[in-house]
Amino acid sequence: MVECPDYFKLKVHGRVLEHLGIQMYQRPVNAIAELVANAWDADAVRVDINLPDSISDEAEITIKDDGVGMTPEECQDKYLYVGWNRRADNPEAKTDGKKRRVLGRKGIGKFAGFGIAGVIRIETISQETGEKTVFELDLDDLMGDDYIGTGEKQIKVVEYDGPDEERKEVHGTTVHLQAIRLKQKVRRDFPRSMARRFLLLQQQAEFNVFVNGAELPESVDLQNIQFVFPRDYEQDEEPSGLITKDDGSGWGEEKLAAGRTVRWRFMLHTETIDEEELRGVAVYANGKLVQTPFLFYLTGGISGQHALEYLTGQVQADYLDSLEDDIITTERQRINWEHDETRALLDWGAERVKQIARIWKARRAKKRRQQIEEKVLVFADRLGKLPKTEAKTVRKALEKIGSIETLSDDQFEELGSAVLTSWEQGRLHELIDEIADVESFSATQLVDILIEQEVLTGLNIAEAVKTKILTIGGLKKLIGKAELENTIRDYIAEYPWLISPGLQTFTKEKSLRKLLTQLAKKYNLPLGKEGKRVDLVLTSGDQLVVIEFMQPGLTLDVDHLSRYDLYFRAIKTNVIEANTASGFRQLTGYIVADGLARDPVMIDKIKSMRDEKMLAMDWATLISNALEGWKEFLEALAIREPRDDRLKALLEDFE
Ligand SMILES: Nc1ncnc2c1ncn2[C@@H]1O[C@H](COP(=O)(O)OP(=O)(O)O)[C@@H](O)[C@H]1O
Ligand SMILES: [Mg+2]
Repeated sequence: MVECPDYFKLKVHGRVLEHLGIQMYQRPVNAIAELVANAWDADAVRVDINLPDSISDEAEITIKDDGVGMTPEECQDKYLYVGWNRRADNPEAKTDGKKRRVLGRKGIGKFAGFGIAGVIRIETISQETGEKTVFELDLDDLMGDDYIGTGEKQIKVVEYDGPDEERKEVHGTTVHLQAIRLKQKVRRDFPRSMARRFLLLQQQAEFNVFVNGAELPESVDLQNIQFVFPRDYEQDEEPSGLITKDDGSGWGEEKLAAGRTVRWRFMLHTETIDEEELRGVAVYANGKLVQTPFLFYLTGGISGQHALEYLTGQVQADYLDSLEDDIITTERQRINWEHDETRALLDWGAERVKQIARIWKARRAKKRRQQIEEKVLVFADRLGKLPKTEAKTVRKALEKIGSIETLSDDQFEELGSAVLTSWEQGRLHELIDEIADVESFSATQLVDILIEQEVLTGLNIAEAVKTKILTIGGLKKLIGKAELENTIRDYIAEYPWLISPGLQTFTKEKSLRKLLTQLAKKYNLPLGKEGKRVDLVLTSGDQLVVIEFMQPGLTLDVDHLSRYDLYFRAIKTNVIEANTASGFRQLTGYIVADGLARDPVMIDKIKSMRDEKMLAMDWATLISNALEGWKEFLEALAIREPRDDRLKALLEDFE
């Protein structure tokens, strides 16, 4: 007969540890940040992270702090008590000694080490008693096949030395991460990355983190910052809740509509920010990162969109950590934005980003105009000698040339001077009239014209061409190494002319991201190695260009190609034809993949798609096309300047 007991037993499998550590903390910075947080909570003043030179079976990572350490009882009751909440009922609990705001909350941080290591060895000396205790947690052992049960799992004490007055002096805890499970050495940007996680704690005098003996660097390179907000607000731009614009270190303070106060600092760099990890706004609570940089889920279509590529920022919202509900994900990378209290912050952030993008756009435009005017000042004398109406035309032409971003100041002066000379000699009137009239044109076009008119000597152009060639070489290297598609994609996004010279002036477009992702799903397009879509959407005026990448080495078959075909057609219908408000009139699609043109059906398909402006090419063709244009250019120059050795040398680089 089957009987039902009065009580069931709750069983917990050792494998839950997998969810606590392994899965959440696979990046060394994330895992180690959690241990540094423990050092903070232990009132440590100095934390030393030591990373091995290479990863081997014996390699270990250590995190050593000079905090209060633990007595055996504390090891048992605090450390080895999974899920113990040290803040108990008080979210604002402070540490005993230094009265720091406690970062720990969930009682599982120590398992972060298992994200990258199989064994965690703890050596701790209690400040209170001088006792020294050593024990080890071995993941395989803990996960075993046994149920841990609610009771116990034996953890062997490896070493114990009783109370000792002298030893009290060297109190602290060292965590040894052993049996490291990393394929590669820890990345070189680890220190900066770590600095970003503790940005605000680092500023406090009594907490210093070192990596292999070196102090953490500044989390943000302050050298290349163009604007800092709220500091750089004009009076009429200031939000109504602003309390301070700048507290002396570039941070402002603002009261949100919802009543909470945050400190914040948004910075616009002078150049676009390449590091994914840096771009966007990070949120900190009590000095520790709780939301990795993001853009408050803004989805495109904002004025000054490009600003987003220049933006980094930090928001210090300590209240997040004191809310009754825990809204910070366990691994402290994301905030749960579905909560009323966080929602308000999200809306605020989106508003600030939009506003600052708008301001940035206006200021950049103004600044650029000023810069161009300043540049042209070099020629003030010579312009002054021309009849007034002529001076006006030439000045306009010079301003046009000055607006080409890729020209350095020197190049501008040389070009400008050549243009003026030609004008003065009466050779160029028509041409310059033309330049002054053209709305915008690229450096290549200009150089083309000027060479045609024999305005320039070959050499300074050769220099410019050389930069192009080096850039192509950079791409070739990435492809040779079969880098991830998205690395290559980002490179191309920066130099879109690599795909086709006509794309020189195109810029990234983000407003269609959602739609394109949906369509890509619908047509079952392949994902990149990292499980994400790898595409690039560029625009210029009413033209839209969608480029799809497949990792070098992966081949494309007819079935793939047909799905791309459908996908491009769907974009055409959805964006260009059905939605004239989108402003886009022309669509060109590119697919870059390997293994094209192997069979006749494929060749035929590619041809028919070409007529519809859907172009497929392989990586090798992309490179050789990109080179071809410039090579001709150089050859043409060499013919004009047959005696120039430097040109010859450049040409030889091609062979
Ligand atoms: N480096 C350390 N020095 C002293 N005590 C520590 C250290 N690391 C952990 N502990 C103790 O172990 C407890 C559990 O740590 P952890 O698993 O990170 O959870 P939490 O930080 O949420 O309490 C801490 O609250 C602390 O009492
Ligand atoms: Mg902790």
